[in-house]
Amino acid sequence: MSSDQNHHASDASDDSIQNVHDKLLTEKAEPKEGFKTMPLFLLGLVSTMIFVGSVYVVHYRGGFSPMVYDERYQPKAGGAEARVLTPEEIIASGKKLYATCATCHQANGQGVAGVYPPLAGAEWVTGSEERLIRVLLHGLSGPIEVKGNTYNSLMPAFGKVTGGGYNWSEERISHVLTYIRQEWGNQAAPITKEKVTEILNAEKARATPWTQAELDPFK
Ligand code: HEC
Repeated sequence: MSSDQNHHASDASDDSIQNVHDKLLTEKAEPKEGFKTMPLFLLGLVSTMIFVGSVYVVHYRGGFSPMVYDERYQPKAGGAEARVLTPEEIIASGKKLYATCATCHQANGQGVAGVYPPLAGAEWVTGSEERLIRVLLHGLSGPIEVKGNTYNSLMPAFGKVTGGGYNWSEERISHVLTYIRQEWGNQAAPITKEKVTEILNAEKARATPWTQAELDPFK
């Protein structure tokens, strides 16, 4: 009798355990096939990141200008510490900088007839460096003659000079001039940044673009 009672008691306890398990099993979510949709907050987060990223790029793109994204740019490490560039690196740097000149003088250096004079085969480019550097530093205006044609317009100043718009360093000016003196069949000696600095110092008093007549003595 007592063993029968025990048996009954253990039966009841198995049942209750089974009951609990059944409950637990039915309360579990059914396994599903396929993918769950993205939680809304995650979608919001990703969208916000893309938006913020786009705003950042638009704000800091610098016009995607080669002058802004210049991987060869070297912060001034006190002059003497700056690495000396090879002739090839100088040409590559000058070629990049030339993108700014190309808007007027064109990528092929031919200029635009009657408006922008050519740099290819121009005596102004391959001739006296004294005259060429002055043109770049302070600009040029009034009638000039290039390869037998007359131009009468304004070349902007590129140097760190009063009234100049570009404020390029002497190093940059030396690079772009070295480039145009050996491109498109031009063959003239490189121009050093020391020479550009020398002329910048010599023309400290000047604040206006040159005229052809004023530059004749430097031919
Ligand atoms: C906004 C247009 C413009 C840009 C940019 C410009 N130039 Fe000029 N450049 C001119 C014009 C116009 C003249 C002729 C000026 C005149 O008629 O007095 C000229 C003249 C010259 C000359 C003398 C004439 C010749 O054809 O050889 C040189 C050299 C020159 N530019 C080099 C450059 C270089 C190098 C750059 C870039 C660093 C540059 N220019 C950027 C418009 C421009």
